[in-house]
Amino acid sequence: MKVIEKIDDMRQLRQQLAEPVGFVATMGYFHEGHLALVRQTRAENLSVVVSIFVNPTQFGPQEDFKQYPRDPQRDLALLEKGKPDIVFMPSVAEMYPVQFNSWVEMGKVTERLEGASRPGHFRGVATVVAKLFNIIQPTRAYFGQKDAQQAIVIKKMVADLNMNLEIVTVPTVREPDGLAMSSRNIYLNPKERQAAVVLYQALTLAQKLWSHGEKNAERIRQELVAFIKKQPLADIDYVSIADAETLDELDTVKSPALVSLAVRIGKTRLIDNIVLEYNKSNLA
Ligand code: PAJ
Repeated sequence: MKVIEKIDDMRQLRQQLAEPVGFVATMGYFHEGHLALVRQTRAENLSVVVSIFVNPTQFGPQEDFKQYPRDPQRDLALLEKGKPDIVFMPSVAEMYPVQFNSWVEMGKVTERLEGASRPGHFRGVATVVAKLFNIIQPTRAYFGQKDAQQAIVIKKMVADLNMNLEIVTVPTVREPDGLAMSSRNIYLNPKERQAAVVLYQALTLAQKLWSHGEKNAERIRQELVAFIKKQPLADIDYVSIADAETLDELDTVKSPALVSLAVRIGKTRLIDNIVLEYNKSNLA
């Protein structure tokens, strides 16, 4: 496992990697969700590159860029087991030199949900991910379903800009009570941590209503809002039932539909989602 900080060194080492090269982009502070991405990447590729970079351009001015948890030594220790070939850890100055002035701007899919609540967020994500793809030139890149809109945005960018790689989505890894793993979960105090399970419970409720035949999206949204409001520490940002590709809000639920939530628990903003999809068990 080589740890690389400079773009030029990364490019040079890239030449020596066996194909196919799998890539996992992260902001570090690893949990099992990140490590599941690394494991799947290892299983499906001959070489693995993991990046750790807390990307300042995807945080709003009032957001937690400075406080975002960082622990590179712990991350590197955890990564050893995943056996990546290269860990790319550039500095902010390396990725954004003072004269930096180009951005990946995208349309409608970046304006919904997280994009509506966090203006400029996806401009920062798409720009840094495009840069990382250009530096690392992976055969495949792996993204978590936990950030469903992010995976959709990256797939759209790759298709629209004819980038030569495959995007793979990996299922959400959860705590035993259902809370989706997230680096931001450490912000929760014990009471908030207990309350945070309301996101997963609400998603489970959506799944139940839908599998019992409810197709009216507004009724499902209302049930979810009412359910989350029963938790006093929860403050809803959005509850959405949208087309899983275009992210257009739905009136009638059709498969596949993305049910996604953003809820503040105390000061911590959490997101989660599920896809309502016909599969064998739904049809049985
Ligand atoms: P970060 O939040 O560190 O997440 C890195 C990757 O891990 C993302 O693809 C994310 O979806 C995935 N991930 C996070 N929690 C997960 C979970 N519980 N289960 C499965 N996968 C999970 O997402 C980012 O960083 C950044 O926006 C980035 C893409 C690196 C660009 O800066």
